[in-house]
Amino acid sequence: MEKSKVLIVGGTGYVGKRIVKASLAEGHKTYVLHRPEIGLELDIDKLQMLLSFKKQGAVLIEGSFSDHRSLVDAVKQVDVVISAMSGAHLRSHNILMQIKLVDAIKEAGNIKRFLPSEFGMDPGRMGDALEPGRVTFDEKMEVRKAIEEAQIPHTYISANCFGGWFGGNLPQMGRLTPPKDQVFIYGDGNVKVVYVDEDDVGMYTIKTIDDPRTLNKTVYIRPPDNILTQLQLVEIWEKLVGKKLEKIHIPAEEFLASMKGMGYAEQVAVGHFYHIFYEGCLTNFEIGEGQEEASQLYPEVNYTRMDDYLKQYL
Ligand SMILES: NC(=O)c1ccc[n+]([C@@H]2O[C@H](COP(=O)([O-])OP(=O)(O)OC[C@H]3O[C@@H](n4cnc5c(N)ncnc54)[C@H](OP(=O)(O)O)[C@@H]3O)[C@@H](O)[C@H]2O)c1
Repeated sequence: MEKSKVLIVGGTGYVGKRIVKASLAEGHKTYVLHRPEIGLELDIDKLQMLLSFKKQGAVLIEGSFSDHRSLVDAVKQVDVVISAMSGAHLRSHNILMQIKLVDAIKEAGNIKRFLPSEFGMDPGRMGDALEPGRVTFDEKMEVRKAIEEAQIPHTYISANCFGGWFGGNLPQMGRLTPPKDQVFIYGDGNVKVVYVDEDDVGMYTIKTIDDPRTLNKTVYIRPPDNILTQLQLVEIWEKLVGKKLEKIHIPAEEFLASMKGMGYAEQVAVGHFYHIFYEGCLTNFEIGEGQEEASQLYPEVNYTRMDDYLKQYL
């Protein structure tokens, strides 16, 4: 079977660039959408990244969310669209803009698979999430609704915790590197969490696009060796550095109370941490009907274990 042609939207982003990399590595003809104003923003790093994609064989396509026709034209050139539109409040958050992409895909009428920007907790399971963090899930559900109403073939990727946001910092709020002496532990620290290397997110994502087993399904990336409690993750780090850290346990009420006085983006983050590390929202369910697990579907992917991932921080 010929490999699908893929358009990646948000390909310069944190996870988008890993999806571009995986798409090229897997031999897909890869198109990367970029906004027309790229050269005028003087963002040399972003431009150089796009040029490096081109050097590796990608096709750069100009298109804008404020120009419907440009989106339709871009979509018409491919079989599959993957969106990695921004969705982390601490950076940028434009999830709802994807409705315009859904409209373009609907009009183009040729797309065999659309993967919207999800790549986190499954928003379909977060109906009871706390304010204000629930905005992420509510908006992702709104995009799902538009996709399903337009009957666009799709796959939703639930990528759990990216190692860079949640692993290397063990996962402490307000920092991205491991603490040296003391580590805050959420509750008893025994809730199971799933950590994933971002390059593996890219690879598993690409593996799903031509796979009939993942059509109109949610795929969870839940690599078995990376299902770890916070205390287990900290222990891995302690072994790597040969030193024990002092553990300060934070009861749930105290953690939630810390939201008071914080900025909006930080409040969103506290809510997400609460659901992950206190409630166990990533692991408190079985993967069932209409759902798949990526490492089972693609055992050939030699995913990065967290002991290797954390070595980057030594
Ligand atoms: N599981 C986890 O731990 C985790 C962590 C973080 C994020 N996520 C999820 O991953 C997904 C992607 O997030 P990310 O952090 O990778 O995103 P990001 O790096 O902040 O941004 C991704 C892309 O969005 C594009 N974008 C933003 N506004 C745009 C606009 N107006 N028009 C066109 N493009 C626009 C950017 O293109 P330009 O640079 O051209 O603007 C960029 O390439 C989100 O759904 C997010 O919720 C998950």
